[in-house]
This record gives sequence, C-alpha cells and structure tokens, in this order.
Amino acid sequence: CKQLQIAIDGPAAAGKSTAAKKLATRLGGYYVNTGDMYRTLAWAVLRAGVDPRADEAGVAALLPQWDMHYRPAADGGLQLYFNGETVRQDDIRAPEVAAVVSYIAQIPAVRAWMLSRQRECRALGVIVMEGRDIGTVIFPDAKYKFFVTASPEERARRRFLQKGEVADGATLATVAAEIAERDRIDSTRATAPLKPAADARVLMTDGLDQDAVIEALLARIAVED
Ligand code: C5P
Repeated sequence: CKQLQIAIDGPAAAGKSTAAKKLATRLGGYYVNTGDMYRTLAWAVLRAGVDPRADEAGVAALLPQWDMHYRPAADGGLQLYFNGETVRQDDIRAPEVAAVVSYIAQIPAVRAWMLSRQRECRALGVIVMEGRDIGTVIFPDAKYKFFVTASPEERARRRFLQKGEVADGATLATVAAEIAERDRIDSTRATAPLKPAADARVLMTDGLDQDAVIEALLARIAVED
C-alpha cells in the first residue's frame, strides 16, 4: 500500500494528539502515538519493580524480553499491544507514569529499542506519527514535518482541563511544574532531544481552537496526498 509519513513533534500538552488524530482521519491514514509507547514502557518498568530514575542498566536489561507494537483495530484506528496484551489508557495515563516517563525516555537503549519499533509502523501505509523526535530521528525523510507548540501557560491550562491526566489535588501550578520538568528533561537529553527538525513547520497554537489547528496543518499538505 502507499506509504506516507507525517511527523508531528512538540512539547507536552501542546495540542498535538487531537490534531494528529483528526489529521489521520481526514487523510484516511493511521494515527500513531509514540508517547503512548514510552508511557507503556514506563508503566511496565514500574510494574517490574525497577527504579526508572536510578537504574538505567536495570531498565535496559528488561528490554530484550519485551515486545510492543501497534496493530489495526476494529474501529479503524490502531491498538497498542505490549507482550501480546492490549495496553489500557487508564494504566498509562496515570500521574505516576507521567512522573517517570521522561527518565525512561532519555536512556539510549530505550530509544534504540523504540526506533526500530516505530520505523516498522511505516508498513501501516499513511501514518501521522506524533512524538518528540519523529521528524529529527525516526523519519528524517518524512514528507511533512510539523512542530506543534504553545506557551507554557497555555499548555499547563490545557493539561489541567484534561481530567484523568492530573493527580488528585493538583493545581494549575503543580501541573505547570510537572510539564516544565518533563520538557526540560526531554529537550536537554543527549539522545534524540525534543527540538524542531530543521525542515519542520513550526505551528504556535496559542489562541487557536482545535479546528483551526487542523486547518493550518491541512493547508500545508498537498491535496493529492
Ligand atoms: O506525548 P506524551 O506527552 O504522552 O509523551 C510522554 C513522554 O514520552 C514525553 O514527555 C517524553 O519523555 C517521551 N517521548 C519521547 N519521544 C517520543 C514520544 C514521547 O521521548 N517520540
């Protein structure tokens, strides 16, 4: 089948997921969320009793026995599988997972493990892949690359309004601090840091509603694709 990759990178809570999901639907392709892959790994590491902050070698040692991939699902989207079982959003959206995922994601062995699994997604055909390093590392030859961002205040506000993704008792200030810490780790790590690809179009979404974001993306994609 026809293969086309659209890369959507950017910091936490910038509105990437909603935009990428809708874009995939409009293009008749699949939406691939690589953040869910890192979150799943973080969740599994916690469940294995390994400390994601301090035990890099322990995390790396778990990888050879693990497997993860996206498969087409009955609803027309994709379902993520970890060791043959479906991944539950409730598990991977937990605040405990958000608190450690960036530590897992900076481990070079983890990124190498993800690289091959994420590149395999090419075989799915038309994909809109969302993450931090899709345009820079995973698909440097992607036909379209976007860096979707928003001000830290706007991103904290959006995440705070997404119930289920914030801890009990969280305030706008604690949510802002969590996001800022994750972005700091993501953008300063040595391997595949969060940054716009040189040839990415940067889209600042402050003041834009979801439809306006989709339209801005679609306007950059040639109709024949
Ligand atoms: O996209 P989301 O916020 O769910 O991603 C969770 C975390 O996974 C990020 O903060 C980052 O540490 C990591 N991640 C990454 N590279 C990607 C996608 C996510 O390092 N391509």
